Amino acid sequence: MSALDFSEIPSPCYVLEEKKLRDNLMILDLVQQATGAKIICALKGFSMHSTFNLVRQFLPGTTASSLHEARLGTEEFGGEVHAYCPVYLEQEFPEIMEYCEHITFNSLSQWEKYKPIVETAQKNISCAIRINPEYSEVTTDLYNPCIPGSRLGITAEKLGDHLPEGIEGLHFHTLCESSAESLEKTLYAVEEKFGHLLHEAKWLNMGGGHAITRNGYDVNLLIELIKNLILNYDLEIILEPGSAVGWETGFLLSSVLDIVENQGTKAAMLDTSFAAHMPDCLEMPYQPKIIGAEKNANGNHVYKMGGLTCLAGDVMGDYSFKKPLEIGDKIIFDDMIHYTMVKNNTFNGVNLPSIGILTEEGDFKLIKSFGYTDYKERLS
Ligand SMILES: Cc1ncc(COP(=O)(O)O)c(C=O)c1O
Repeated sequence: MSALDFSEIPSPCYVLEEKKLRDNLMILDLVQQATGAKIICALKGFSMHSTFNLVRQFLPGTTASSLHEARLGTEEFGGEVHAYCPVYLEQEFPEIMEYCEHITFNSLSQWEKYKPIVETAQKNISCAIRINPEYSEVTTDLYNPCIPGSRLGITAEKLGDHLPEGIEGLHFHTLCESSAESLEKTLYAVEEKFGHLLHEAKWLNMGGGHAITRNGYDVNLLIELIKNLILNYDLEIILEPGSAVGWETGFLLSSVLDIVENQGTKAAMLDTSFAAHMPDCLEMPYQPKIIGAEKNANGNHVYKMGGLTCLAGDVMGDYSFKKPLEIGDKIIFDDMIHYTMVKNNTFNGVNLPSIGILTEEGDFKLIKSFGYTDYKERLS
């Protein structure tokens, strides 16, 4: 990336680095090869379809949480398409059935409602229910599907001694950027509460939230956990990460348009927005890394980064730079591929960042730019 000429990239722009994506996919594939588990890409986290030619060389399919994702998975990725929606829309369900061969239901009432429709399908659709083990290692409530009273998944008490007739799979999702050790502890709860059903099931989908491609993730432990499950319960194992596919595979390039100072605090006003282009920074919340800056206020040249919307909180800081910032400087936010393009918005009418790829040969390829029509078409 250091050799890259940033002046050829429009600002702002999400830039995916192909080589880094391939590296992630190779780690995921290593887990598949070592265990026989399937790893499918959760489109809710990573759906940059211009990269699917590469992704599909390693992963056998996708998982969708809506009709549109199921269609994207079918039309742009191919392979297996799985679906789990917290609730299905009656008018959409027949089309979802056309795209998917694995469908997971969030409640027994949803299963009972759609079972007769699934039974009319021309092809074999394998159905599952999402279980809630009432145990999660996630400490942020916004991302914890096991908080008391959660609407996600069926608790053991509700499920009884046997799988409902026609159900072949179990699905749980309780992790978020979590370690293999967290999965291990989660599995204790899953096995304790649902072990009898694991013996009856054909497959177990362990959801997403596995930070498999993060530096330091214990891939060997993950492999051991999967192998044990297969050995003990004779199950097909599926994982559906989104973050782990796009983890640290690129950046958001932006530019300094102005520098303002109030009560001794300097803010670099950017052509991008945390609220519109990097919403997880405010939602999660977390302070993203800027290449070439430190995340603290200890240096000589300290700035907050100001977004271009009017939201008072569209700001991020503090960052220390080696030299004073100037108008026209580039600010590069690291790790801005997963959960950015899928969640961004045009709040304040701001334009969306362009999307580009840094190829493995080192060339920058502009994939898409946005404009007024993209903004207007979402409104009426
Ligand atoms: C059911 C389900 N599966 C998979 C994922 C993907 O998770 P991640 O991108 O953290 O791996 C999510 C994320 O919310 C989810 O809710």
